[in-house]
Amino acid sequence: MTHRITLIPGDGIGTEITSAVVRIIEASGVEIKWDSFVAGAEALSRFGDPLPQPVLDSIRQNRVALKGPLTTPVGSGFASVNVRLRKTLDLYANLRPVRSLPGVKTPFGELDLVVVRENTEDLYSGLEHVVVPGVVESIKVITEKASTRIAKFAFEYAKQEGRKKVTAIHKANIMKLSDGLFLDCFRKVAVDYPDIAADDKIVDNACMQLVMRPQQFDVLLLENLYGDIISDLAAGLVGGLGIVPGANIGELGAVFEAVHGSAPDIAGMGIANPTAMLQSAILMLRYLNERDAAALIEKALIHTFAAKDVRTKDLGGTASTMEFTEAVVASMKELASA
Ligand code: NAI
Repeated sequence: MTHRITLIPGDGIGTEITSAVVRIIEASGVEIKWDSFVAGAEALSRFGDPLPQPVLDSIRQNRVALKGPLTTPVGSGFASVNVRLRKTLDLYANLRPVRSLPGVKTPFGELDLVVVRENTEDLYSGLEHVVVPGVVESIKVITEKASTRIAKFAFEYAKQEGRKKVTAIHKANIMKLSDGLFLDCFRKVAVDYPDIAADDKIVDNACMQLVMRPQQFDVLLLENLYGDIISDLAAGLVGGLGIVPGANIGELGAVFEAVHGSAPDIAGMGIANPTAMLQSAILMLRYLNERDAAALIEKALIHTFAAKDVRTKDLGGTASTMEFTEAVVASMKELASA
């Protein structure tokens, strides 16, 4: 079956890392017809909009997109393209699997956890106002509908990926109504998944536990703001934003993307690390139910890190983007013929 997927190479290093990933996916044998679109800074200068309507139409039609990093123009009055994408397509679940890679040394040992973040409400609703001069209110919105659907998403993901536990992270001891509602919804949904353990932790304790005993966590479920902070903290446990993947998933579609930016300081030099983008593509292949290809590429990536002395500069090596890419393709061929 040929999948039709919207490809947004993005700004800065985007073209370099997406072409690396397209090369690896092609070598895996999965058939994809890519509909490629310009977005971000280049689209702004060419079309006056960093997120032109045809890009949104294509994602709506194909339901799946692979997206490189987009530069958010500073001071030009444009909202973040990434935020617009999430809002317009109602991509309510942010998924960030966090797993250590062999040879990428961190003080935290072997880790394999997944952060699920609610993407649409909480303190990100943009409801802020001045009550009287010197006093500002910022309104936190938590709804039963959004809390229930993200809890269901977390348990369904856990079930599908053979995960054992979902932990809700909250501050319901202080925000008794808002975080209390989020926690109640989580507990109600958990009842429908008796084979998956469910527990919860207060967010401050969860932060301490994440850096002291991170191995106790499996799937973490969080509201938008805690999720924003903890997903970056968790990425830091395994080596940072350069290697972890991300996805924004909704009922109308899913956008898979590396969580790092467009790295203007190294753009065009051919030395960007394609790992985060490749891991996002692996998530995409699983979403497309191309599970064998996803497993093969993942094994090849791990094999490349474990058995080959090939690293891009950000991880202390000297390999170019394409040298690293070809090493992954070679690993894939070795594993497929073994
Ligand atoms: P950045 O993530 O682009 O760069 C931070 C540092 O990490 C730089 O030194 C860069 O060279 C390095 N780096 C990032 N990705 C790398 C990779 N794959 N391989 C090797 N080194 C890598 O963050 P920065 O500089 O704050 O943002 C640059 C632009 O990217 C901004 O316009 C920002 O708005 C945008 N951005 C876009 C995101 C997205 O589209 N999802 C996410 C974050 C930032």
